[in-house]
Amino acid sequence: MKRMRSSIMISLFGGSLLMVSCTGGEGPIAPPPPVPAEYAEKRMPEGWWTDPKIIEEGRLIFTGEENIDVNCASCHGKDGKPVKRGARDFRVQERMSLYSESAWYWRIAEGVPRTKMKPWKGKLSEEEIWKVIAYEHTFSHEGQPAPHDDYRTMPQTAEAKK
Ligand code: HEC
Repeated sequence: MKRMRSSIMISLFGGSLLMVSCTGGEGPIAPPPPVPAEYAEKRMPEGWWTDPKIIEEGRLIFTGEENIDVNCASCHGKDGKPVKRGARDFRVQERMSLYSESAWYWRIAEGVPRTKMKPWKGKLSEEEIWKVIAYEHTFSHEGQPAPHDDYRTMPQTAEAKK
């Protein structure tokens, strides 16, 4: 029995080491994978990146104040500094500049397979997803609203080259 438990411990430990090396800490600064066709045309509604009302509504969603079942901050941290291993640091502008609108939306809607990031499309409407993105985006701009179009000029996925 004792031996079995220690082998479980070892495999858990090994597993988490693997997590650290693949996705750990802040993770690599790399563009997200190509966006599936059904999401490729998704765009932030006009003016929302910088609309203080939208950003505030996004904040309420992100922190779970709107719906306790949707608490992005519990892993991503209230200020975008991750509190759960594997989550990316949203404060790093260099990384967030690589995210096209559609990639950002897709990742939240569908989650990231085999990670703690689950799909949120069942819990959030399309508008709510855009609001939460508008809020997340402020983390990489010192908490201030800012337009997000730098990704268009970044070396990117096929989708953004169009
Ligand atoms: C249970 C923890 C957890 C919760 C809750 C959570 N996330 Fe995540 N999220 C993660 C992890 C871990 C990753 C990194 C996945 C990976 O390895 O790419 C991630 C990735 C992401 C990404 C993509 C960045 C990337 O790594 O490609 C976005 C955007 C994101 N989360 C937004 C959100 C939003 C918005 C919410 C709330 C609606 C949320 N997350 C809730 C853990 C969480």
